[in-house]
Amino acid sequence: MAEGEATGAAFPVRRGGQPQEAADPASDARWQRLEELLAGRARQPGQLIPLLQEIQGLFGYLPRPALERLADESRLSLNRIYGVATFYAQFRLQPRGLHVVRVCVGTACHVRGSARIMQRVQEELGVGAGETTADGIFSLEPVACLGCCGLAPVMMVDETPYGKLTPERAQQVLRRYRREAMARQGRDPVAGAQAADAGAACDAHFPA
Ligand code: FES
Repeated sequence: MAEGEATGAAFPVRRGGQPQEAADPASDARWQRLEELLAGRARQPGQLIPLLQEIQGLFGYLPRPALERLADESRLSLNRIYGVATFYAQFRLQPRGLHVVRVCVGTACHVRGSARIMQRVQEELGVGAGETTADGIFSLEPVACLGCCGLAPVMMVDETPYGKLTPERAQQVLRRYRREAMARQGRDPVAGAQAADAGAACDAHFPA
């Protein structure tokens, strides 16, 4: 599946790896690029949303210092900019977690219990839709369809789909990812199995 297809996201999204922090402006070329983006465009009509999209494309989310620079250059209030950024689902105000969990809430998944999956996932992670866990391991996103409707209900962790889910199975999957992430960070020496099989097909990773 191509980036953004299922989510409607306007930009490629990072999967896996460490959260993309907005690094020190003095040592991060992205901030120079930001200045180039703002120059000459920030005050033009109709540029607010395109610039927000490009800033998110640069950093992976919308860092507050970047929005402050946008406010300075555009002469729009920071409140106005935050109002637009929080209105549209495509914009993120936090960096993404190590793993992106997408729970399908499309029609096929809905009729097969995706609401219960989402509820269990939210309980397990302790975050709501669009949020990142405090430990930076998971970001949670609802999506309209993952293209595996025959395996509904479905969720995807990074690039790996899990179909015919139950709330219990979803919880097990997430705990496996968490164990592995913590083991990598040296926080859990008894961590278990490998979590991800990148590039797995839709017919993988569902209970028999
Ligand atoms: S509706 Fe859930 S995968 Fe299509």
